[in-house]
Amino acid sequence: MSKSINIAITGAAGRIGYALVFRLANGDLFGTHDVVNLRLLEVPSAMKSLHGIQMELDDCNFTTLGDVVITDEPEVAFGDADYVFMMGAKPRLKGMERSDLLQDNAKIFASHGRTLGKVASKDVKVLIAGNPSNTNTLVALSNAVELNSTNFTGMMQLDVNRCKSIVSKHCGVPHTTINDVIIWGNHSSTLYPDLNHAQVKGFPAMDLIDDDWYVKDYIPLVQDRGHSVIEWLGASSAASAANAAIQQMKMWTGKGGSQRWESMAVLSSGQYGIDSDLVFSFPVRHARGELFIVDDLDIDEYSLSMIKLSESELILERDEIKHLL
Ligand code: NAD
Ligand code: LMR
Repeated sequence: MSKSINIAITGAAGRIGYALVFRLANGDLFGTHDVVNLRLLEVPSAMKSLHGIQMELDDCNFTTLGDVVITDEPEVAFGDADYVFMMGAKPRLKGMERSDLLQDNAKIFASHGRTLGKVASKDVKVLIAGNPSNTNTLVALSNAVELNSTNFTGMMQLDVNRCKSIVSKHCGVPHTTINDVIIWGNHSSTLYPDLNHAQVKGFPAMDLIDDDWYVKDYIPLVQDRGHSVIEWLGASSAASAANAAIQQMKMWTGKGGSQRWESMAVLSSGQYGIDSDLVFSFPVRHARGELFIVDDLDIDEYSLSMIKLSESELILERDEIKHLL
């Protein structure tokens, strides 16, 4: 029997929102069997454009789209949502770091977190991309006192995809043959894109990769990719971010179909010696409807030092917004 699934999107009239809503309406997350109802949230000043998006959704005649609610009230958007994509936040501009957005954006996630806690289903899955996304996820889950931390993940799939695409070009292999890459830490220029456990066509990736390229080229390329897109495009990634959000949610719901691990930012409870109460990107596996951190990998000294650098940055970010936790 087909299901009816409610999906809320914050910042739905923004650039990522615009790239996301039509894909969700087209069944890109749940397939063509189930019906998707959209709850699109914006600030009052963007309600006019949201109305235009609703008109475009009508004009697509998607067979998988049920009803669409547009609103500037978080209670309405989150009230009956099964899934929430939190994109509503300021993006960084040229010359900024993501952490420069912290003071403005964290307030949004504190307030949305509180509302989610009050009105959302106890099973809701909330994916957070608004930057700086790890610390915003920490703020949201801390304020949603009625929910569990496991209701929330911060988006890291875009970094996973970037890493695979760079390795795929370098090694001259399809990205589908690259598995078990890990992004550790913060979605920022301190993230550590670890290939020590990855395979390329079933062989250890590090056997195919020169140490010099790994340290001097590959790591900075992944870390700075968001910044490079802003330099070339004049705005931050939107279509690739929407695509990654769908992939991460698919994997979280167990619909990704892979037994491999992916990386997501989740609340640390001390795995690999990482401070608990940080939202940190770890390798995670989906099993029996839940996410588990893969917590038994051997980590070499260089990798550990990189992971610790990202942890330090997240501790500083957390200190800056501790009044919101
Ligand atoms: P955008 O400015 O185009 O859109 C953001 C939208 O959010 C705007 O329409 C704005 O009106 C809305 N908004 C602001 N406050 C809101 C609130 N309180 N409630 C509801 N809506 C609100 O920006 P964008 O390009 O769509 O990016 C959105 C966010 O995602 C930014 O913070 C950006 O840095 C981040 N991002 C994250 C990743 C990632 O991998 N984590 C990737 C790309 C972008
Ligand atoms: C990205 O990685 O593309 C986003 O986080 C946007 C940004 O500011 O880089």
